[in-house]
Amino acid sequence: MNVVKCTLAAVALSLPLVTQVQASCEAGEVKVVMSLVTAVKGHPKGETASALAERVNTQMNGRMCMEVYGSSELYNDDDVFQAMLDGKVQMAAPSFSKFSAYTQKLQMFDLPFLFDDPVHALDFLASEGAQKLREEVRPAGFVGMGFWSNGMKQISSTRVLRKPSDAAGLTFRVQPSDVIEAQFNQMGASTKRLAFSKVYGALESGEVQGQQNTWSNIYTKDFHTVQNGVTESNHAYLGYLVVMPASFLDSLSRDMREEFVALFELTTHEYNRFSFETNQLRRQDIIDEEVLVIRLTDEEKQVWRDTFTPVYDQFSNVVGQDLIDAVRAAKSE
Ligand code: SIN
Repeated sequence: MNVVKCTLAAVALSLPLVTQVQASCEAGEVKVVMSLVTAVKGHPKGETASALAERVNTQMNGRMCMEVYGSSELYNDDDVFQAMLDGKVQMAAPSFSKFSAYTQKLQMFDLPFLFDDPVHALDFLASEGAQKLREEVRPAGFVGMGFWSNGMKQISSTRVLRKPSDAAGLTFRVQPSDVIEAQFNQMGASTKRLAFSKVYGALESGEVQGQQNTWSNIYTKDFHTVQNGVTESNHAYLGYLVVMPASFLDSLSRDMREEFVALFELTTHEYNRFSFETNQLRRQDIIDEEVLVIRLTDEEKQVWRDTFTPVYDQFSNVVGQDLIDAVRAAKSE
């Protein structure tokens, strides 16, 4: 029997950052293509996906191979779901906000100031209640494999934002989430839903004047270079539900499926812990480029919290008060 070598090569395209992890898949190997909208290198999701691919390509060589395409090179988060059902890609990790067509519950993650920090989020994600959320995508034909972590969101803008009302009259790019829209409306701002791949262009052209994202997303997509400051609000958590088409997983032999799932779980466990650190590094990169980072005093933070309180009245019934209570209970003392 020919044992084929499945080599890993990081291919740099036009961007200075690596956008792909390509494996030379050989005949007879089952191929897993993962499509990401974010950067691959220097980004929590991209680094986790790369580590998983490396393990699959080494440990399952000859039977399975995995490729990762970043920066929306294959699909954006709106069309990746259909691409998975059509068998064009086998894995994606859309942010929680992108699942609103399938479930309202994941919008809970967008509630402002629900999570204190990424540790709180990881504690909740490990809980039984969070693990049950993975089942929400099953009726649509997907398997929720597990959660990958990014970090806390900050708000960038052409205007220096010390208090929420400083944003009045501006338009912010948002992910497709009613909760996020309500949050910006409380600031007196308007919103525009745009795919992640469109954000830089929209900020540069002035179509929108601000956006919210993690340090790693802001830095790896250069958003900071077309904004006048980033407010370190840490007001919401950005994480991902990793999904695969159920039909693909069902087509694998039991042994192969179990081996892949075991590698996925190991990599998830190991790499989620680095997500906070990766974001802190990207934060420092932004500061090193002399971008204004607005740090809030405790009093200022309280104004942001108070401004966003009405969002809970609007959405606690939509996402489920029981889920909100479970998040609060998951906070380690
Ligand atoms: C992502 O982190 O996958 C993208 C988030 C966004 O659309 O802002």
